[in-house]
Amino acid sequence: MLFEEYTFFNHQFPEPQYLGAKHTHLPWLNKHVPSGVKTALDAFGGSQSVAFLFKQLGFEILTNDFLNFNHQIGLSLIENKDCKILESDVKMLFNQSSAKGQFSLIAETYSDIFFEREEAEFLDNFRANVNDLDNSYKQALAFTVMNRALTRKVTMGHFAHTQALNYANNPDRIKRNRSLARPIKDIFLDLLPKYNAAVFDNKQENRSFNMNTLELMPDLPKMDLAYFDPPYCDSHADYQSFYHLLETFTVYWKDKEFVNSIRRYEPQRYSGFDKKKTALDSLEYLFELSDEIPHWLISYNDRSYPSVDDLQKMVGRYRDVQVEAKTYQNGRGGKGSVAGSREILIICKPKKKHPVKIGTRLETVADEGF
Ligand SMILES: C[S@@+](CC[C@H](N)C(=O)[O-])C[C@H]1O[C@@H](n2cnc3c(N)ncnc32)[C@H](O)[C@@H]1O
Repeated sequence: MLFEEYTFFNHQFPEPQYLGAKHTHLPWLNKHVPSGVKTALDAFGGSQSVAFLFKQLGFEILTNDFLNFNHQIGLSLIENKDCKILESDVKMLFNQSSAKGQFSLIAETYSDIFFEREEAEFLDNFRANVNDLDNSYKQALAFTVMNRALTRKVTMGHFAHTQALNYANNPDRIKRNRSLARPIKDIFLDLLPKYNAAVFDNKQENRSFNMNTLELMPDLPKMDLAYFDPPYCDSHADYQSFYHLLETFTVYWKDKEFVNSIRRYEPQRYSGFDKKKTALDSLEYLFELSDEIPHWLISYNDRSYPSVDDLQKMVGRYRDVQVEAKTYQNGRGGKGSVAGSREILIICKPKKKHPVKIGTRLETVADEGF
């Protein structure tokens, strides 16, 4: 490791609260990053924890997530080299916006569901001001910090329930999580220095994308390593129900309906990896598209569909495969709980070639694996 790469590790990844985020597994994952890698793809970036590790390792990174609020984290912490939110920006973000009249989606949709009306109006005003920041990385950082503040503000860090306001008025709950009763503005201000400190330049031209991975892959340049952490099908990993509000706040939809008690947007974005009907075909196509990338690391969970064995067989047609596992001791409870399940890492290397005799000639063929 170069001296400079050690200094990249002085920048801490701000702790996310995101289903399936890998921030607690990064040292384990790092042990299995092959040597000699210079360019890496994080194809399902989510909280961007793994892309951030790759940035610290000095790689040139392409990161991607089909949800826009995750792409904003990619822009602000992976692609961004030096733009931070300064005191003058904060002042501007909290000022009364002149465009406020055109920004009322959050108050209209979520008042008295996730927030009191006053807080919802504060969010609309903030959202109007983000557009006036003079730099797209600053805008992305403003979204990143505010979206994180919102997951602090609601119980369990997601929006697939309607208990947020009940719990915000329950002293026992508040004792356990003070943020429930705090103004969003204060939570934002607490978080901001941590996010500003996570902005650094690893001397590479990193890029963040906001696409369906299967549409992005055919256009990518040559890479040394792909990291795949797709949603775990059949394990309640419904990202668009859990985090719909963050996507709505970021995109500020003009063309969606808001349905159910949680007011989730409809129609949802198409994943291809999260439903049994399409998961196998999507995985197969993903591996086909990745054939030119020599090394793959695949995160998985042993409660997902297809089973670890079946996935291993699938990957084995393309790569030599080694499977590592870690058991979760504690779950967070509720939907998406991981207690008792195992975190799996599938380490994929190019197939070993070995010589076979064909007639009188010696030819090199790849191992078939299984
Ligand atoms: C298991 S999470 C990734 C977690 C991430 N490794 C982390 O540490 O936070 C899976 C991610 O895939 C994204 N996703 C689902 N389907 C996708 C698709 N077809 N293309 C791109 N991203 C997708 C989801 O939005 C979700 O953030």
